Amino acid sequence: MIAAMDIQVTKAERSKLQDIDLGNLPFGKYFTDHMLEAEYEGGKWTNVEIRPYQPLLLEPSLAALHYGQAIFEGIKAYKDEQGNAFVFRPYDNFRRFNISAARMNMPEVPEEIFIEGMRRLIAIDKNWIPGKKDHSLYIRPFMFSTDAMLGVRPSQTYKFLIILSPTGPYFPKPMNILVEERYTRAAPGGVGFAKNAGNYGGSLIAATEAQKQGYDQVLWTDASEHKWLQEVGMMNVFFVIDHTAITPSLDEGTILDGITRKSVITVLKEMGIPVEERRINIDEVIKAHKEGRLQEVFGTGTAATIAMIQKVKYKDDVMEFSEKDWTLSADIKKKLDAIRQGKSPDTHHWMLAV
Ligand code: COI
Repeated sequence: MIAAMDIQVTKAERSKLQDIDLGNLPFGKYFTDHMLEAEYEGGKWTNVEIRPYQPLLLEPSLAALHYGQAIFEGIKAYKDEQGNAFVFRPYDNFRRFNISAARMNMPEVPEEIFIEGMRRLIAIDKNWIPGKKDHSLYIRPFMFSTDAMLGVRPSQTYKFLIILSPTGPYFPKPMNILVEERYTRAAPGGVGFAKNAGNYGGSLIAATEAQKQGYDQVLWTDASEHKWLQEVGMMNVFFVIDHTAITPSLDEGTILDGITRKSVITVLKEMGIPVEERRINIDEVIKAHKEGRLQEVFGTGTAATIAMIQKVKYKDDVMEFSEKDWTLSADIKKKLDAIRQGKSPDTHHWMLAV
């Protein structure tokens, strides 16, 4: 157990906060004054330190750069009207982080470092939490292998860090989506459920090609038929068909067990909306759209929260939605925002006080 006093704290001499316009915050561009860093060596975590945000000095032979043992999480902190800081469901991210670690043959990070370290770091940089609608402090815990060695084997040493970024909406505009038929994000037995860096690196070419055709992101499909729907861009996806919310199930291990996804499922059930977690095929979606039964499509993720989708293209079929169609997604967003901003009771104990 790492007691609070075991975290060594070195404060920045000057805050960069005054140099930043908190009214104009592109996602992930600015970082707060401090970061947390810990090292894994000899089978245990040591040197847990909060220090001024700064570059790292790394070996060119660093294992993570060559063989990709690198994982991360995305979490958000908010403040209520009294200025108290809260983190949204960090224990779920903590558990998922260690599931990713296990899949990537990396050591687990203990709760004392992940949760308590995060709390202490946020407490130090609390003034950086933006108060504006759709804004938050994005928390990025990450771990990577640090052996200076080109042999392909699990590293013996690792670094764990947490950095913080005051941030605005990830997708400020409704999204246009292309159903992906060539590239694959994940297959059963692979790493699709893990939040490892390679999943994101491998997805970039598909998004770049979609962007050339005027789309923002792709809707990922299964590896063999390119028909069974998985995720949209970096988010989970929901289809509202006949007033039932349908989202791909986690059973095949090809999609991320999204914290926003499960929060949305809880909120939907509380609203009395039926929810189905199951396999869903693009042909079913197209058919529902042609029959006027597809009401809404939206993405969910920590960075994006709820992302409205205005267009989905599959072969020659184009499904379009307008602002008036986003009723359920807009309602859920309002409910989640109210909990996060401390305006509705936190009945599920999702908000952890800093
Ligand atoms: C998140 O929603 O936190 C994500 O993982 C997306 C991120 C890669 C920007």
